[in-house]
Amino acid sequence: MKNNLIFFVAVFSFCLQLGHVHGAEQLPTEWRITAGNWRFADGILSVDSMNAEARVTFGEDSWQNYEIKVTATFLKVQNNSRWLAIVFRGARDGSTPWSQFPIRLKTSGHSGSEFAVRKDSKHWDVRQRVRAVKDSQIGRPRQLRVVVQGSNVQGFLDGQLLVESPFCMDRNTGCVGLSVSGCMAKFEDFKVRRLPDTPQILQKDLKPFEVVAHRGFSAVAPENTLVAIQKAIEAGATGCEFDVYAAKDGPVVLMHDATVNRTTDGIGKVTELTVAQLRQMDAGSWKDQRYAGESVPTLKEALKTLKGSGCQAVIEIKMEGISKRVVETVRAAGMLDQCAVIAFSATVVKEVRALEPRLPCAWLSGEKLKGSPSQRAAWIASRAKQCNTNMVDLNYNMLSAEVLAELKKRGLIVWTWTVNDPVIMEGLMRWGIQSITTDRPDLAAKLSKRAGGRNNPPDHLR
Ligand code: G3P
Ligand code: CA
Repeated sequence: MKNNLIFFVAVFSFCLQLGHVHGAEQLPTEWRITAGNWRFADGILSVDSMNAEARVTFGEDSWQNYEIKVTATFLKVQNNSRWLAIVFRGARDGSTPWSQFPIRLKTSGHSGSEFAVRKDSKHWDVRQRVRAVKDSQIGRPRQLRVVVQGSNVQGFLDGQLLVESPFCMDRNTGCVGLSVSGCMAKFEDFKVRRLPDTPQILQKDLKPFEVVAHRGFSAVAPENTLVAIQKAIEAGATGCEFDVYAAKDGPVVLMHDATVNRTTDGIGKVTELTVAQLRQMDAGSWKDQRYAGESVPTLKEALKTLKGSGCQAVIEIKMEGISKRVVETVRAAGMLDQCAVIAFSATVVKEVRALEPRLPCAWLSGEKLKGSPSQRAAWIASRAKQCNTNMVDLNYNMLSAEVLAELKKRGLIVWTWTVNDPVIMEGLMRWGIQSITTDRPDLAAKLSKRAGGRNNPPDHLR
């Protein structure tokens, strides 16, 4: 791959560089200010974005692949979280969507660097958050480099690879630029090398997939409640995921966190509260007053809500030691053919597989893997084998077209979570993903149906 890149650069690329025009105050004509206060003098582009974001674009909307390099220096910041960034796959006029590789002054912090997409004037989709080894310092230059090829993007800081994602899909082509927020900064030695065009992912066919609502239709209703499950069915989900623990007195109940603190008006650990105590809690108001009084459901109630809806119950077991109780509850509901179990714990997956082989059971993972697609797939497949399953449910950042193909080659059924951006859903569809877990089952169901996916709820239940 590296050799190819060097070859392409040497043979096909051209290089564009800021001129060193002494004393000039005007930006060279190739640059377009789309927001903020920029100044160009002595080969240095400086900007003041202390009070508002600033952006400048360079190049053509038709550019597909390139390598962008710049030396960037923070001069003053409002606070440690402020950032400067290279923009890629943008539009000359600054319109959305556009993508960026930023660094914050506290570069080693959570989101010290990112791959982020500005979807519209208000929303970002942050596809990857990473920490650099070292923080940035006022007055100390850092080298930023971005390589975009097809739907792959890599972001480097001082030579270190920080961001790597195959989800650069919002535009097939687009110009480049710089972007800053809440700081004063300067940029020097800006260079763009064009790289040869590559086949576009959008030329592949869309394939339908299973639409799994994440914790119910959690974008609109309080997660892990009966109303969220009901809304998932109405939204056309073909599956509904929820999380379970056992209450102190035994029954299995729906809750994501180990405590009730975030999603109810009570406090305490789920496993130290009885069902009666959990029942008294309000699990809806935290989301919206119109859900006040919504209670913490039992697994039995959740299954009853889903039975016959055409929507599969996807039960995520969050603690060890309750597999038998979960399997028995599913059997008692007569829903072996309408349920699946998922778990991060290999022990739980193994137990469920042994207890009830008719119940599909996937091993969950959000591991950050390194190595070739085949090495990554081999690691995932070996973990699945240890759990005695052929189903895996992976954080979407673990996937690429190649990794997915390698996993399928190894006979695995691949689900993914949690994807809320339709652009990424489309990419995954074109790669042939089998199931997507999402907070937005409404958007996912539309996409899947467009590709011939099954209609849910079935007509007789509409
Ligand atoms: O579907 C899997 C996903 O739910 C795992 O993450 O934190 O939402 O339980 P979490
Ligand atoms: Ca979950």
